[in-house]
Amino acid sequence: MLKLAVCVSGGGTNLQAIIDRIGDGTIQGARIVRVISNNPRAYALERAKQAGIEGVCVSPRQFETRDLFNQALLEALQAAEPDLIVLAGFLVAIPPAVIEAFRGRIINIHPALIPSFCGKGYYGLKVHERALERGVKVSGATVHFVDEGLDSGPIILQKAVEILDGDTAEVLQKRIMEQAEWIILPQAISLIAQGRVVIEGRTTRILPERR
Ligand code: GAR
Repeated sequence: MLKLAVCVSGGGTNLQAIIDRIGDGTIQGARIVRVISNNPRAYALERAKQAGIEGVCVSPRQFETRDLFNQALLEALQAAEPDLIVLAGFLVAIPPAVIEAFRGRIINIHPALIPSFCGKGYYGLKVHERALERGVKVSGATVHFVDEGLDSGPIILQKAVEILDGDTAEVLQKRIMEQAEWIILPQAISLIAQGRVVIEGRTTRILPERR
């Protein structure tokens, strides 16, 4: 059984998608052991509670220095003994000590087709605002492993979504969530639970289904 720790900051719709796909059997062999939020008011914590999952808040405001926060985040993760950490809308830079402790075992969902619209300053609605400003005709979402860089780790899955005339950042964000994020994040977890994702340098290889 793959034990998941899910890190969140806000609404938690991606967390909900994982809960639902475990619930309906689409994801097999995985369960969420802890949800960690940096934001005490995140609705994601309410979603965890409603699903009977332990939710904890580790907020930078609780600590005098960033180092102390980073240490507390590492401890909150280690205490859950996860096999995989899922960043599901976690808008905090992952401390190097966490990456070191869980190398190759942290994945992130990003709301664009990496390497477009990613890196420093590209999170949440800002990603979609920049995509619209640039006038791209497709965007989408990416699930990737987390390494020391920003949105630079090996890509696991991507899904493209069309941009339509009159889109606002909010409308585009919702379409990308519905048509891409809520699909490929559970899919990536399912593939990892089946042992079908192999990291090969900067890339990944998805092994065929075992029969
Ligand atoms: C999602 O769109 C996710 O891709 C994005 O934040 C949103 C969280 O929504 N993540 C990033 O921008 C990371 N760079 P949710 O809380 O409803 O899942």
